[in-house]
Amino acid sequence: MTTRTRILTGITTTGTPHLGNYAGAIRPAILASRDNNADSFYFLADYHALIKCDDPLRIQRSRQEIAATWLAGGLDVERVTFYRQSDIPEIPELTWLLTCVAAKGLLNRAHAYKASVDKNLEAGEDPDAGITMGLYSYPVLMAADILMFNAHKVPVGRDQIQHVEMARDIGQRFNHLFGQGKEFFTMPEALIEESVATLPGLDGRKMSKSYDNTIPLFSSAKDMKDAISRIVTDSKAPGEAKDPDNAHLFTLFQAFSTPAQAAEFRGELLQGLGWGEAKNRLFQLLDGELGEARERYHQLIARPSDLEDILRVGAIKARAVATPFLSQLREAVGLRSFATPVQVAATTKKKAAKAARFISFREDDGSFRFRLLSAEGEQLLLSRNFADGKAAGAVTKQLQSGQELDLRREATGFSIWLEGTCVADSPAFADAAACDMAIDALRTALTPAQD
Ligand code: TRP
Repeated sequence: MTTRTRILTGITTTGTPHLGNYAGAIRPAILASRDNNADSFYFLADYHALIKCDDPLRIQRSRQEIAATWLAGGLDVERVTFYRQSDIPEIPELTWLLTCVAAKGLLNRAHAYKASVDKNLEAGEDPDAGITMGLYSYPVLMAADILMFNAHKVPVGRDQIQHVEMARDIGQRFNHLFGQGKEFFTMPEALIEESVATLPGLDGRKMSKSYDNTIPLFSSAKDMKDAISRIVTDSKAPGEAKDPDNAHLFTLFQAFSTPAQAAEFRGELLQGLGWGEAKNRLFQLLDGELGEARERYHQLIARPSDLEDILRVGAIKARAVATPFLSQLREAVGLRSFATPVQVAATTKKKAAKAARFISFREDDGSFRFRLLSAEGEQLLLSRNFADGKAAGAVTKQLQSGQELDLRREATGFSIWLEGTCVADSPAFADAAACDMAIDALRTALTPAQD
């Protein structure tokens, strides 16, 4: 059986995806999911969204927009498991199990939390002013997302590497405490796509909602065109040679063009193509690349109940993994059905099974005898004959009572006596050393079990 690489990533549902999100995360993830070796789990991290946003309408809208964006972008839900975090009740449940093993000191070191504390201190506020337990525990919820599905690779931005490391840390600790030699959780690795360029925004800085410099992705052709018209360029007039390598307009173009298209565009800029015309070319390119997907996006947004159905199917697929796994984990920490025997009893039983044992049998003449076998199964004693089972039973009981043994050594073995009567004999041994070892084994075998 070949094991596919399980790739898992979450998208926090607080905003509307823009062109930078598409080129930097969505498009590469969709491409990666088409690899035959990939078993991809992509989800809407809507519980994480609640940490950053207390506007229900925005949460609602963003979840739909992000779901529609990924589907319109070509995500094949037959191939990947695409779901909403909040449809998987096992995730918050696992979060609690992990919270109980996560070191508080570890979470104190989380960048996002520390940044908030530093900001408070700078402002002369209480260090924890405005900081919720949600923000503080953010990495534990994320660890649950990742560990729940035993992801191997977690594609994330650099700012999330620490969170993936924390997931390893917490998972390892759980394995150590409850695994009993078994590794419940796979250790995930952060996957940083070096080759994916972060797109520049309208002003040349990284495209980001917080800089207000984004190009919208699927809203409308007109919105995209308007944004492109606001791309900052130098003031060279039409006819003057442009410097493509210092024009972020060209960087944006390259992110969506073939190398041949880029080479052609570069030549035209060097020959003095005007910026207005250059913007037009960029719009044509993006509209050609994204126009169809935009259509699909608006169809999906217009039919929210279809979206709902798709995500419900995704949740069923995800829970087919999560439900049985979580019940193993509950079992491991001791949250077990009352109908299962308590482990202590189970352990004692196992010990007993492995310990020395008496085996009674009846001779042809009707007398009763027993053997004592060591844990390894070698014969330590064979009893004399008893008239009835009761007498034989009384002797085995007495031997196990812990009382001082009356053991008498003979030429090639030893015999055991009770109240002046020989009750059992050892086999014949090759030498004195073997006899000594058997005596030791006998004493061990007859030591009452410790609870
Ligand atoms: N915290 C991630 C981000 O802001 C989103 C996320 C939540 C995530 N859970 C995850 C990413 C699990 C990867 C794996 O980008």
